[in-house]
Amino acid sequence: MSYNESIKEQEQSKKVQEMFNNIADKYDFLNGLLSFALDDNWRRNAIRLANIKPNNKVLDLACGTGDMISQIQKQHPDAIIYGADFSVNMLHISQKKLGSIPFTAADAHNLPFKDNTFDRLTMAFGFRNVTDKARGLSELYRVIKPGGKVCILELTRPENKLTSFFYKIYFMHLLPFIGGLFSSKKAYKYLPDSVYKFPKRHEYRQLIEDAGFKNIHFKSLVFGAVTIAVMDK
Ligand SMILES: C[S@@+](CC[C@H](N)C(=O)[O-])C[C@H]1O[C@@H](n2cnc3c(N)ncnc32)[C@H](O)[C@@H]1O
Repeated sequence: MSYNESIKEQEQSKKVQEMFNNIADKYDFLNGLLSFALDDNWRRNAIRLANIKPNNKVLDLACGTGDMISQIQKQHPDAIIYGADFSVNMLHISQKKLGSIPFTAADAHNLPFKDNTFDRLTMAFGFRNVTDKARGLSELYRVIKPGGKVCILELTRPENKLTSFFYKIYFMHLLPFIGGLFSSKKAYKYLPDSVYKFPKRHEYRQLIEDAGFKNIHFKSLVFGAVTIAVMDK
């Protein structure tokens, strides 16, 4: 990547950070509303695929307001969980909800953790926002122990034409409208844009492979509108 491209990506990442700081207080309410309250079900699915073992050290990256952590705690009360996010406003909300968990302000492009620290890393609806995805994946790889697992849950674009058509209407028009009524219209316009820009399945697999991961598996939910990627170091 050239110097100019790298500066542009850093600026874009700053804008994303600012946007999440601005919508933090409305995030939980809108998340449930706009996903028809299916989001927790998707998180539970991802956690099952992460195959967390007793006493595993788990990092939930891009933890936002802590919904993924709550679900991990329910399924694996003995897991040692850490939360990290680059939006301090999101982290404040998680901290209020889940005080006992250690939270760190951290950017996925440059994680403040030593190599081979965690047994599992989960990331729900956060990877789409990482502007330099190759860099982000190499950081995920670095902080995971050999034999450890990473599980990324993300909104993706359905590949079936009919589903894609309805999805486009909902995502491009209805969602920014509803989001705008309660929160920042700009943020809820950014959401479909980021999904449409997300790499296609074969590009996504290549990026993950290039970071060094093996045994890469994908699970599609809701006709491909949601994808869980699981990979091993
Ligand atoms: C859509 S929210 C998801 C929050 C939570 N994981 C959930 O399941 O509801 C995306 C989160 O990713 C965080 N995020 C985006 N880019 C990030 C980055 N580069 N490093 C760390 N966190 C990031 C945002 O601050 C935000 O809290």
